[in-house]
Amino acid sequence: MEQEQNKAESVRRMYADFVVPSYQRSLTLTRGEGMYVWDADGQRYLDMGGGVAVNSLGHAHPRIAAALHRQALTLTHTSNLYYNEQQALLASRLVKQLAPGKIFFCNSGAEANECQYKLARKVGNPRGRFEIITALNSFHGRTLAGIAATGQGKVRVGFEPTVSGFKHVPYNDLDAVRAAVTDQTAAVLIEGIQGEGGVTPATAEYLLGLRKLTKERGILLLWDGVQCGYFRTGRFQSFQRILENVSGAAEFLPDAVAMAKSIGGGFPMGAVWINAGHADVFQPGTHGTTYGGAPLSCAVANAVLDEIEEKNLAANIRAMGELLKQKLSGLGRASIKEVRGMGGIIGIALTVDGAAAAAKLQQAGLLLIPATGNVLRFLPPLNVSEEHVEEAVGIIKKTL
Ligand SMILES: Cc1ncc(COP(=O)(O)O)c(C=O)c1O
Repeated sequence: MEQEQNKAESVRRMYADFVVPSYQRSLTLTRGEGMYVWDADGQRYLDMGGGVAVNSLGHAHPRIAAALHRQALTLTHTSNLYYNEQQALLASRLVKQLAPGKIFFCNSGAEANECQYKLARKVGNPRGRFEIITALNSFHGRTLAGIAATGQGKVRVGFEPTVSGFKHVPYNDLDAVRAAVTDQTAAVLIEGIQGEGGVTPATAEYLLGLRKLTKERGILLLWDGVQCGYFRTGRFQSFQRILENVSGAAEFLPDAVAMAKSIGGGFPMGAVWINAGHADVFQPGTHGTTYGGAPLSCAVANAVLDEIEEKNLAANIRAMGELLKQKLSGLGRASIKEVRGMGGIIGIALTVDGAAAAAKLQQAGLLLIPATGNVLRFLPPLNVSEEHVEEAVGIIKKTL
């Protein structure tokens, strides 16, 4: 034990000396299995944050390990100067989830959104259109254009001048978007459920209204499904869930959809689906990234998708989300103002300091992710079980 504590201390010291301090860190984690992680002191934690919506199959999943091992011994990286079977297969499977179109592969959520900004510029360019409208409180990544797109001023402080061409309007407010569109507008970009912004779902009317407006004005509707997508709501993308049983929903489809996080289950990966009408906009030399769609990442993503499909994890996370919401609402805690979200993206809005509450829960063995506005997020693996939900709610009941 003493040796383990020394290890944690020595890791922390090396971070202090050698790692850029751009994150606030707490535990030193040494291993994970399923829904649990262990720290250097041997303490176990129930990981309901899922590495911020990344560990879609939990920790150390044997199927991911086997796919990595198999592919690493076969073909790891080739560059995009060549074809590889794993990329072709994954692209065809992702297109099947949505509608006719094509996939661009990259390595992260910010990069997937960069592809969307460039798509908007490339399509809008001949007509002098370049502006992208995004929502206040949104989060789209930490690149220079990502912080310009993000509707939270705090991410831009100290990094001025901001990349030009982004406008922010209140979320779920169609009139605000309508008023912001000009002859220079190229696209509107939104998250289906704002994650970092505090777990706020879009309304069905907003989505349908946005699609109608963007079609009328000849501009693109871009979708950031990096956090709320990839089956997290119980459907492949959150708009499919939000618009279930809504009249007029069948015609709703964004022009592009950004994916990352859960797609690789922990292996860095991003992807953008682009609709058939714009799928050939990026010709050779216009966009690219060295590692995008490498055999290794695509083999892992194919294995993740196999597991999701075979075990019907979309249905599982949908049911677990309902159970979690019901149990959290049933707690009757004065410190919990609201429980919102769906499936595997649930937020509890607190009347107390969110970061302090997260620290307290962590001490009690439960990992959650703080979001803006004293909200704590549940972003569990898609294979979370009823026992884990019970355990998480039990810890909250005892602690908050
Ligand atoms: C909605 C959304 N978009 C984009 C990103 C950026 O993704 P990445 O950190 O992989 O660049 C995030 C990350 O949290 C996100 O939640």
